Amino acid sequence: METKILSTSDEDIALAAEIIRNGGVVGFPTETVYGLGGNALDAASSENIFTAKGRPKDNPLIVHISGLSQWAPLVKEITPQAMALAERFWPGPLTIILEKSDLIPMETSGGLNTVAVRMPVDETAKRLIEAAGVPVAAPSANTSGMPSPTKARYVIEDMMGRIDAIIDGGDCSVGLESTVITLATDKPRLLRPGGVTVSMLEEVLGEIDVDPAVYDKLDDTQKAASPGMKYKHYAPKARVTLLKGSFEKFAEYIGKNADEKTAALCFDGEEKKLGIKCITYGKENDSLSQAQRVFSALREVDETGAERVYARYPDKNEIGLAVYNRLIRAAAFEVIEL
Ligand code: TXA
Ligand code: MG
Repeated sequence: METKILSTSDEDIALAAEIIRNGGVVGFPTETVYGLGGNALDAASSENIFTAKGRPKDNPLIVHISGLSQWAPLVKEITPQAMALAERFWPGPLTIILEKSDLIPMETSGGLNTVAVRMPVDETAKRLIEAAGVPVAAPSANTSGMPSPTKARYVIEDMMGRIDAIIDGGDCSVGLESTVITLATDKPRLLRPGGVTVSMLEEVLGEIDVDPAVYDKLDDTQKAASPGMKYKHYAPKARVTLLKGSFEKFAEYIGKNADEKTAALCFDGEEKKLGIKCITYGKENDSLSQAQRVFSALREVDETGAERVYARYPDKNEIGLAVYNRLIRAAAFEVIEL
């Protein structure tokens, strides 16, 4: 398949919208990461997305809308809590799960009777959804298992020849996927941490539950509330290990264990002190800068050709929880306490 590279001009957005209406798949920017968009109401479109991404069929897609009026037809009921969240955080990086209506095909919801919906704030995403005139189902635009793409060039790397078009809209500002919360349970439950933090959610909802899969690996007997959490994720080709401890201990460990195939994933400034290939992922004690960098950094790790990567252990506070959640998966939960 020939993949067209499109700009954000009105003409190109109209073309991308037409592709989506006709059942095709388009890579497009959002404020979080690039998405692979198709018509959320069309089972065949969703199947095309799963095929392009190589994604297991039981891992549901997020449905993107450009206005509140598009939401009600997709769900059984917009609960007061759901409306309160939407009023506070939409448009923006929050995904809200409710029971789905019959309009959403099982192919889109991965066989679940719930649907995840989000209204992005990114201008290009908004223009595309509006022009398409249908809700747009979109997972992150990476090949399943790879780090989510924050730049058009990473979408091109993964998806060239596999989808109909890619809109190049520059770099994503948030850099991590949206926060996912379900309101389809008795008590609101965080399934994936992101830019909208637990404390921000609790300001609106009161106390919420945090799914155990956010912090830890599920064992084989546990069922994932969010199917995406059970798969290996966000991983570069190199094997990643998190080293927990001070920078001094990190440097000492690297000094003893690194060879020419090893790289470090460290904080800004530390690269001058390590003497091996380094990729930085933001400032120490600044989770926001780490969030913006972590996925690009994981892609850059592979560009160095390293086979082994030792990574600094991030702070788990606020948005840091999201950084930790992605890195620990990139490392397949491998942590060494220094
Ligand atoms: O920021 C984002 O959310 C990006 C951009 C493109 O909007 N999208 C994204 O989609 O990250 P994806 O498919 O890569 O991640 C969606 C996550 C998966 O872990 C999936 O299992 C979960 O949300 N999810 C979606 N629908 C769900 C549902 N009905 N119940 C439980 N989990 C759901
Ligand atoms: Mg993803």
